[in-house]
Amino acid sequence: MNEGLVKRDLAFNWHPYTQMKDCETNPPIPIQRAEGIKLFDYDGNFYYDTISSWWCNVHGHSHPAILEAIRTQAGRLDHIPFAGFTHEPAVRLAEQLIRIAPAGLSRVFYSDNGSTAVEVALKMALQFWSNKGRPLKTSFMSLDRAYHGDTVGAMSVSGGSAYNAAFRSIMFPSHRVPSPYCYRCPSAAEGGRCSFFCLSSAEDVLKEHSENIAAIILEPMLMGAGGMIVYPAYYLKGMRDLARKYDVLLILDEVATGFGRTGRMFASEHADVEPDMMCVSKGITSGYLPLGATLVSRDIYDAFYDVHSAGKTFYHGHTYTANPVACAAAVRSIELFDEEDTLARTAEINVTLKAFLDVAAAFPNVGDTRGIGAVGAIEMVKDKETGEPFPPDRRVGLEIYRKGLEENLVLRPLGDVIYFFLPLCAKKGELEDIFERSARVIASVTS
Ligand SMILES: Cc1ncc(COP(=O)(O)O)c(C=O)c1O
Repeated sequence: MNEGLVKRDLAFNWHPYTQMKDCETNPPIPIQRAEGIKLFDYDGNFYYDTISSWWCNVHGHSHPAILEAIRTQAGRLDHIPFAGFTHEPAVRLAEQLIRIAPAGLSRVFYSDNGSTAVEVALKMALQFWSNKGRPLKTSFMSLDRAYHGDTVGAMSVSGGSAYNAAFRSIMFPSHRVPSPYCYRCPSAAEGGRCSFFCLSSAEDVLKEHSENIAAIILEPMLMGAGGMIVYPAYYLKGMRDLARKYDVLLILDEVATGFGRTGRMFASEHADVEPDMMCVSKGITSGYLPLGATLVSRDIYDAFYDVHSAGKTFYHGHTYTANPVACAAAVRSIELFDEEDTLARTAEINVTLKAFLDVAAAFPNVGDTRGIGAVGAIEMVKDKETGEPFPPDRRVGLEIYRKGLEENLVLRPLGDVIYFFLPLCAKKGELEDIFERSARVIASVTS
């Protein structure tokens, strides 16, 4: 267990999203090393990393090719400013990103995490319109269950939640529209067939406000922190069409979905949609080092390209923008997709995952199951017939987390939604073992 390490941790560290008082009964678990899909503690016990270490690990922990790329680059060039200098890893990565990104994206602006990749997109969208002589386009449209990060701009376009409740006073207003959450769709509850009420609600807002809207921001196909909501490609296509019709930009936040997680390199490919901007992070380095990037279309880049005195420069940057070691890890991670046929393996993961979700759907307290690529979600409910959720003070998520650990699983439910966000290296035998253990955890949650 290494109790000494835990004691030292609790003496000085403050963990994210954590009520530190809870650590009196649920202290952090000391992890010594990791390999493939497994994390190992100091006693040699393992835990299946079913959430890819916060959705970023792609090729598995301790992959020798990525470790070697990091070692080599760190020995050659550790860090330099990315204004006034350039370097091979940043250039190679930009070339690779543009090669694999949806058509139409032609420039890469680096940052260092998912929230800042989003923040950059929001600021660029505002300045794009201002540079084009339309300074009134200053607001955004976003989904009411979205999650785009924890910086002020990213919070402002996320749904209202415990994550941002304390900061509402400094968040700017955004046009929040209903999410395509099919399981809890209000129009289905009225007995109606799907009329894409979520799309028509978005169009109503655009009809009235598009003159003031700079961009729509969306998580394509899969809304992560909002409850692992998988939605139809038709909705994404519809939002692309609405953005064009009402002359607003479309920003796709692929921070969680990018780099193969949904079975395609980018989730927008499921709907054949080309965004004006795309935000990536997490899986870009396979989870080895922090890096973010915002990819933009030629039109956007051109709106900033002028003589200095025109005042169109994009004044934004971070010290660690395009860190060479992080870029080298990303280059190697992207190469591995071809070398290891990663997307074909993701399709195999999906088959095993879907079979398990079908089994899980029959459990008495499972209200809904949904999945895409290597991501699957199981929504636990008090009443299967009505979909009534468990009362929040029951803390079902915490119960599942604890039971998961007893089964050597890292399960961190989002509210009452158990999910798997699997590394794309997961092998069939490992998946079968994970799902056998998960079935016991699910069965233990009863009303
Ligand atoms: C869709 C999406 N966007 C942005 C972020 C923020 O990324 P980061 O935690 O690296 O700031 C996340 C994080 O979970 C995310 O899921």
